[in-house]
Amino acid sequence: MSDGNGATDTPLLEVKSLVKQFSIPGTKAVVHACSDVTLTIRRGETLGIIGESGSGKTTLGRCVLRLLEPTSGQVLFEGRDLTLLNRKAMRKLRTDVQIVFQEPFDSLNPQMTVGRQVGEPLRIHTDLGKSARKTRVLELLELVGLPPSTYDGLPRQLSPGALQRASIARAMSTDPKLIVLDEPTSALAPEAEAEVIRLLKRIQDETGIAYIFISHDLSLVGEICDSVAIMYLSQVIESGTRDQVFGNPRHPYSRALLASVLLPDPSKRRDDAARAERLEGEIPSPIDLPAGCYLASRCHFVRDRCETEPQQLLSAGEDGHDARCWRVAENDLKNEEIERLRAERRTDAADASA
Ligand SMILES: Nc1ncnc2c1ncn2[C@@H]1O[C@H](COP(=O)(O)OP(=O)(O)OP(=O)(O)O)[C@@H](O)[C@H]1O
Ligand code: SF4
Ligand SMILES: [Mg+2]
Repeated sequence: MSDGNGATDTPLLEVKSLVKQFSIPGTKAVVHACSDVTLTIRRGETLGIIGESGSGKTTLGRCVLRLLEPTSGQVLFEGRDLTLLNRKAMRKLRTDVQIVFQEPFDSLNPQMTVGRQVGEPLRIHTDLGKSARKTRVLELLELVGLPPSTYDGLPRQLSPGALQRASIARAMSTDPKLIVLDEPTSALAPEAEAEVIRLLKRIQDETGIAYIFISHDLSLVGEICDSVAIMYLSQVIESGTRDQVFGNPRHPYSRALLASVLLPDPSKRRDDAARAERLEGEIPSPIDLPAGCYLASRCHFVRDRCETEPQQLLSAGEDGHDARCWRVAENDLKNEEIERLRAERRTDAADASA
């Protein structure tokens, strides 16, 4: 089936059971940064990855580009497993998959002109001569709304928003099919952020590019992403379309996280009662993860089975909507229990303030 961009309906990217562990020098311990991560991205869509600091979002993004070597698992781009490609094949593939980092000042060389840096991937990955490269870079600067004079400027002469647009121009230079955007607007003021988001949307409309949009900003993800994956302590604990995950979060962690989000569409907002499900308690260490569910020590709905049984990402009911919780998968977590918790918490709060 065509997706309107002349492409087939096969996923652009499939991440399967990806594991990334960092060893801790001088010890046998490892940091579990990504554990059994499975995701799918279709052509032209934006997948939002959300989760608290340290949940593994950046590690996942870097593993997708093999800027970090996964410990195990597969990263299939148009059906080809990137983890098996040799260096030369991987370099070629980098024209199709690019990344934009959070901090534009850190990702651009302060000594090199903006024009040269935007054109760097063209120099490395294409046969274009100097003058053709310059023409292409000027086109790219125009695409991202930067004047031609930027070409000869140095990064320090640009505002953070303009710098991030230059980073996007550089990522777009090889005409990629996918860009990993790692918190691309979190270092920007609201106006510059809005401009960059508009730019990303326009580029997507014009080119059919797909994005992995990594963010802490739940409202932004709710606004711009087609599908969403929520990470907690190295695992994806819920994934699905934006409407499935934001409109009907099923995993206790997602429910608590999304209770605070103010979505633009009032019908999709969650009410005050949902905030009663807020989590408390210490997050386990990524060096010493629990045997069973990673949320067990903080979950309001925990059962004995949760403490010992590792949780799998399983269907949460609707097609494409998955959660890593046996109680959701087995339809054991009923509304009555959730309502009971809310009522108890409201009573506790009333007693505390009396
Ligand atoms: N090079 C490294 N060596 C050891 N541990 C690392 C390394 N990089 C990341 N980690 C650890 O891996 C886990 C995931 O880190 P990661 O940076 O992917 O999280 P994140 O979700 O991107 O967080 P943030 O929202 O703060 O950017 C964390 O526990 C982190 O401390
Ligand atoms: S498996 Fe148990 S502890 Fe984990 S989220 Fe589900 S109910 Fe909570
Ligand atoms: Mg990060």
